Amino acid sequence: MTVRKIGILTAGGDCPGLNAVVRAVSKNALSRGIEVLGFKNGFDGLVRNEFIQITEHTVSGILTLGGTILGSSNIANPFSYTLPPFGSPEQPRDLSSVVLHNFKANQLDALITIGGDGTLHMSQRFVEMGMPIVAVPKTIDNDLSATDQTFGFDSALHIATEAIDRLHTTAQSHHRVMIVETMGRYAGWIALRSAIAGGGDIVLIPEIPYNDDVIVNYILNRKSKGKNFSIVVAAEGAKNEKGEQAVARTVAGSTDAIRLGGIANRLSAMIEDKTGIESRACILGHTQRGGTPTAFDRWLSTLYGAKALDMVIEGKFGSMAALKGFAMAEVKIADAIANLKRVDPQGEEVRYALEVGMSFGSAQIG
Ligand code: F6P
Repeated sequence: MTVRKIGILTAGGDCPGLNAVVRAVSKNALSRGIEVLGFKNGFDGLVRNEFIQITEHTVSGILTLGGTILGSSNIANPFSYTLPPFGSPEQPRDLSSVVLHNFKANQLDALITIGGDGTLHMSQRFVEMGMPIVAVPKTIDNDLSATDQTFGFDSALHIATEAIDRLHTTAQSHHRVMIVETMGRYAGWIALRSAIAGGGDIVLIPEIPYNDDVIVNYILNRKSKGKNFSIVVAAEGAKNEKGEQAVARTVAGSTDAIRLGGIANRLSAMIEDKTGIESRACILGHTQRGGTPTAFDRWLSTLYGAKALDMVIEGKFGSMAALKGFAMAEVKIADAIANLKRVDPQGEEVRYALEVGMSFGSAQIG
C-alpha cells in the first residue's frame, strides 16, 4: 500500500517529549511526500474533525518544547463520549462511528496515536474496527509493560530528583522531615527512582503496603544517630497495610474516576504528631509533567516518532513502537495493554535500595 496521508494525535495526560514525537513523525513523513494532519486534543479532534495541516514550519523549533502543539485530552473517549454538545456525563454516547467516518472522509491511510494506557485501549478498539493504527507509548508513570521505557518518564524523574535535592538542604537547615509526593498513579517508578537518585530515606510505593509505626521508628532511629532530618518520598498511589489510599477527589462518569493525592499531607501530620519532629509536605503534582524534555527523552521521542512512521510505511498496523535495551522494537498494542508494569517488591531494584539503607515503611520488606 502506498501511504499518502496520515493523521496524528496526542492523547491522555501530557508530558515532556510529545512535541518531539510529533516533529519526528512529521519530518520523516514530509520528507517522503506524505501529508500529515494533526488532530486536536486527542481523539476529540477525530470526533469533531478538527485538525491542522502539518508543514515543516509547524514542527520547526518544537523539539525542546514541553506540552503538545496539538493539545491533549484524557476525557475525550469516543466510545463513551461525555463532552458537549454531542454528549454529557449523564448520557455518554458511543461516537466511534463518527471517528471512523472522519478518518475515511479525510482520506487517511493511517493514524499514529501517541498516548498512555487509556489511549492504547482506545487505539486497540479502533484497530479491531479496522482502523490502521500505529501507537507510541507515552506516560510519566512508566507503567507500560511492553516497552522498557515510555517517553516522559525520564523528564519527570529529573524534576522529582531535583526537588528532593532542594528539599534536602532546607530539611537539614531546619531539622525537619520533608515528605515529597510524586505522581505515578498505581506504579511506584517515579518515587522509587527519584528516591534512589536523590538519597531519600523512606520511599512509599503502591506495590509495598506501608505501616505508620515503621516510618516513625525509622525516623526516630535516624534521630538517635544524630541525623536530625529525614526525607520521605511518597508515591501518590501508595497504600497503607489496611489498603487505604489518599484520594483527592472522585469524579463520577470520568475516565479517571479517582484522582489520587493527599498522602504527603496525611503523613506530615502523622509524623509530626508521633515523633515531635516538625514535618512539611511538598506536592510536586503537575510540575512533573511540565517544561522541556531531558536529553534522554528528546532522544527517545525522536526514535519513537521516526520508528512509528517506518512502521506505518511497512503496514505494521495494530502495533506499538517500543524500546528494548537501547534499540527500537515493535510489539502488538493488544500485548502492550495486557499488563501494567509495576515495581517488583522482590526485585533487584528494591533489594539494592534496602542495601543502601532506605526503608519502604514496611516490616515485611526490609
Ligand atoms: O498518568 C499520568 C498522570 O500524571 C498520573 O501520574 C497522575 O495520577 C494523573 O496523570 C493526573 O492526571 P490529571 O492531569 O488528570 O490530574
